[in-house]
Amino acid sequence: MEYFVKSGNPEKQRVGCVVVGVFDRRKLTEAAETLDRITEGALGTVLRRGDMDGKAGQTLVLHSLPAIFADRVMLVGLGKEREFDENAFRKTNAAAAAALRKTGAIDAISYLTHQEVKGRDFYWNVQQALLATEGEYYRFDDMRGAKAREDLPQYKLERITFDVPRRSDLPAGEQGLKEALAMNQGATLAKNLGNLPGNICTPSYLAEQAKKIAGPHPIKVRVIDRDEMEKLGMGALLSVARGSRQPPKLILLEYMQGTRDAKPIALVGKGLTFDAGGISLKPADKMDEMKFDMCGGASVLGTFKAVAELKLPINLVGAIPASENLPDGQANKPGDIVTSMAGITIEVLNTDAEGRLILADALTYVEKTYDPALVIDVATLTGACVIALGGFPSGLFSNHAPLARALLEAGEQVGDRAWQMPLWEDYQSMLKSEFADVANVTGSREGGAITAACFLHRFTRKMKWAHLDVAGTAWKGKRATGRPVLLLTQFLLNYLAKKHEE
Ligand code: BES
Ligand code: MN
Ligand code: ZN
Repeated sequence: MEYFVKSGNPEKQRVGCVVVGVFDRRKLTEAAETLDRITEGALGTVLRRGDMDGKAGQTLVLHSLPAIFADRVMLVGLGKEREFDENAFRKTNAAAAAALRKTGAIDAISYLTHQEVKGRDFYWNVQQALLATEGEYYRFDDMRGAKAREDLPQYKLERITFDVPRRSDLPAGEQGLKEALAMNQGATLAKNLGNLPGNICTPSYLAEQAKKIAGPHPIKVRVIDRDEMEKLGMGALLSVARGSRQPPKLILLEYMQGTRDAKPIALVGKGLTFDAGGISLKPADKMDEMKFDMCGGASVLGTFKAVAELKLPINLVGAIPASENLPDGQANKPGDIVTSMAGITIEVLNTDAEGRLILADALTYVEKTYDPALVIDVATLTGACVIALGGFPSGLFSNHAPLARALLEAGEQVGDRAWQMPLWEDYQSMLKSEFADVANVTGSREGGAITAACFLHRFTRKMKWAHLDVAGTAWKGKRATGRPVLLLTQFLLNYLAKKHEE
């Protein structure tokens, strides 16, 4: 799909379809009003006949209206005007996008981007309209056979223009469009990698993809393999990988386009390409979904993609510890004690709490190698996080309040929200081990997302650090969501904007 931003009158558009909003109780928006006037009441007539009343998400296509240039007009229900908020904006734009693709129109212009949302501007409107549209159009059919792929529905729609009210709104709209396109590329990449099955998306595959993504950009990729991990003393990461025939990889990315002396921001993503639980084997039900256990890593790759596409002047490093977690003769056994790169010994009481093991060594490596300004890790870390928060927000933990605030704010902005949970010292006592410095799980399941974060904190104390538990948000049903690429990219954009203010 190609996208444009423009400012023009709805009645003058020579396009396949003009999209305008109608609020609940058939209240026309300004653009709909204009079309109604010019067509001598055609829109009002249809609405009065009862074909649509403006409930959120309704759509109705009208053909061959008089006195306008467009082939079609699509009415989109926006719901109650007083309740029109950010969520309604996204939802109605997505509904419009879905309906639009079912028409025969090749191009369309949407006036839904005229609808102002409290506290937001036309940068936001265009950004969110594009993201909602692309979110709707995403499909993953790479794994279907050739015949099935041929039979996939073909859509005619090629171009969508988002209209803004005034010419003076164009720069903001265009910026929104540009940034949303890059964000969407990043999120799409994360979705594609997430949706791939474990037999294809292995640690080695992830490493190859990282190199491929870096290709056209000033991104350096370095992959640490087993031998080097051994030299570095990454006993925690290696212990997880021992249960699998796939060699582990620690994928490192460096994008140093900021000022020379600025410390980098570090992103660390769990790249567990399949989590069977190891010797503490998971039950069979829904185990297929554990192919998504690399979504944290995929979101780091996606964020690098977005940042590089936008050529952001920033120093960014990434680390993705990639491994499988399978039961095997060499696998971790409950009670095994391993020594992490940080020198902290860990008693592996449950081999299914493997994410924190591989992240511990990656976080230590990042601290020692890059001395980052701040580090954010992203991981499908705990089922407990899904129990606590459900599938709407990601769980956020941080030892630095301003960082937590900035992440929460970025998430709100792009609709990829997080919710903060405590990282109190009280919980640390739950991780006591009879024999080692720390246990990888607690005796009970209480506060499981928090104790997992507290485990990671043992390895990040010296850094400004945040942890996003995306166990409930990285996929929905059986589909990867690409989260939290939008949150992370918006966070970096905001971070740069603030830097200029200082
Ligand atoms: N990858 C899982 C977490 C997970 C489970 C994410 C289900 C999404 C849905 C992680 O490695 C894991 O197995 N965690 C255990 C920790 C437990 C053993 C303390 C869990 O959540 O059950
Ligand atoms: Mn696990
Ligand atoms: Zn896992």
